[in-house]
Amino acid sequence: MKNRKVILVGAGPGDFDLITVKGLKAIENADVVLYDALVSEDLLSHVKPSTKCIYVGKRFNSHAFSQEEINRMLVDYAYEYDTVVRLKGGDPFVFGRGVEEVLFLESKGIEVEVIPGVSSALAVPTSQGIPLTKRNISESFWVITGTTSNGDISKDIALAAQSTATLVILMGVRNFSLIMNEIKKHRHKYTPFAIIQNGTLPNENILIDTIANYKNSIDGIDYTSPGIIVIGDVVAEHPSFLEEDIQRVLGMSF
Ligand SMILES: C[S@@+](CC[C@H](N)C(=O)[O-])C[C@H]1O[C@@H](n2cnc3c(N)ncnc32)[C@H](O)[C@@H]1O
Repeated sequence: MKNRKVILVGAGPGDFDLITVKGLKAIENADVVLYDALVSEDLLSHVKPSTKCIYVGKRFNSHAFSQEEINRMLVDYAYEYDTVVRLKGGDPFVFGRGVEEVLFLESKGIEVEVIPGVSSALAVPTSQGIPLTKRNISESFWVITGTTSNGDISKDIALAAQSTATLVILMGVRNFSLIMNEIKKHRHKYTPFAIIQNGTLPNENILIDTIANYKNSIDGIDYTSPGIIVIGDVVAEHPSFLEEDIQRVLGMSF
């Protein structure tokens, strides 16, 4: 009897080269690949000629398939093909509903392997030269969703803002004003923030300012592109942040 198995692979943040070696090997061996919206399509040029590649992405309420349909397809393909790869953006277990897929597959008796990926939460700020931690500046970071399942911002944003941690907010671009309104209640007004869109890709874009000026950024955001909001004094490490601003931020903090 065929060994039924699905491999969840983290594709990394967007740049083709940021997939893991193990993830790329799984793609090269796959008979079927079901892939998401934020996955580099260049990865699909590494499949065998006979491999079936199926787009199942979701972007801004435009869903190729519902999550239930994706779950069902994974089961059906696992019964039909030897090697099924589910290719997901970033890391499969960071806001990607990866664990729901694992639980569904396991409930149907299908073995699952998860190959971790480089999460955009880490890679996008790092590739822009923004460290999420820095000695004497930031001792921790929170990765939070900017849009919960009912469309609201996460209550954790207010909790994180009350700490000294760096905030890394995914899926928050469309709720940017709501988020900044919450943050400004808890952080000093010269705290810098960055919005990085299409991180690690050729059309990467970054906006940097301080909380006091957040309204100036509203018109510069591309609300159709994925973006990460980073808030905290570490943003001052970005090369475009002026030296005088760095001094002011450091002066305010300590
Ligand atoms: C559903 S979450 C999945 C996150 C993914 N599992 C990860 O670990 O990166 C999608 C969100 O990740 C962020 N994101 C993913 N890729 C990105 C990129 N290249 N640039 C900026 N943000 C990105 C955006 O906030 C986007 O709305």
